[in-house]
Amino acid sequence: MTPALRTEKLEIPSSVDQIEKVDEFVEGFAVSLGLDKDALADIGICVTELVMNAIVHAHKERAELPVCIIIESLPEGMRVAVRDYGPGFDSMSVPDPTAPDHIFDDHGRGILIVRAMMDDVAVTRLDDGMLITIFKRISPQA
Ligand SMILES: Nc1ncnc2c1ncn2[C@@H]1O[C@H](COP(=O)(O)OP(=O)(O)O)[C@@H](O)[C@H]1O
Ligand SMILES: [Mg+2]
Repeated sequence: MTPALRTEKLEIPSSVDQIEKVDEFVEGFAVSLGLDKDALADIGICVTELVMNAIVHAHKERAELPVCIIIESLPEGMRVAVRDYGPGFDSMSVPDPTAPDHIFDDHGRGILIVRAMMDDVAVTRLDDGMLITIFKRISPQA
């Protein structure tokens, strides 16, 4: 894996009111990289989706379980890892939200959105949780 130029880590309790803090954390890091607004918005949306999944699906909002978020700047982009301590899931078995049976569902699109918006997504099932890593390429500033 490419070594990071800079790394920052945030650990939050599993409570949905922590999302604002996560947003500020990601935004602060991205702004310091000089990231453009569109890329920043995309990363913000995706990190929110993944952290919400960790809080709600993995940890069932048990505040004592931490969600860990690591952001790294790389020469060619930004990488974010979200780690939870839940039962884990098989991302390949998640129902396809674009299938006729699910097209009108008001949930189930988070992972699809993340895959669409990011340049790379790695979903890893660990012995004691999940590690999801996303990567967004950042074109050099003109
Ligand atoms: N971190 C996680 N731990 C356990 N299950 C998860 C996790 N993230 C996602 N899932 C499972 O994958 C499904 C799809 O997630 P997602 O696409 O974000 O849709 P939604 O959160 O609206 O259900 C969830 O309903 C859940 O069953
Ligand atoms: Mg979700």
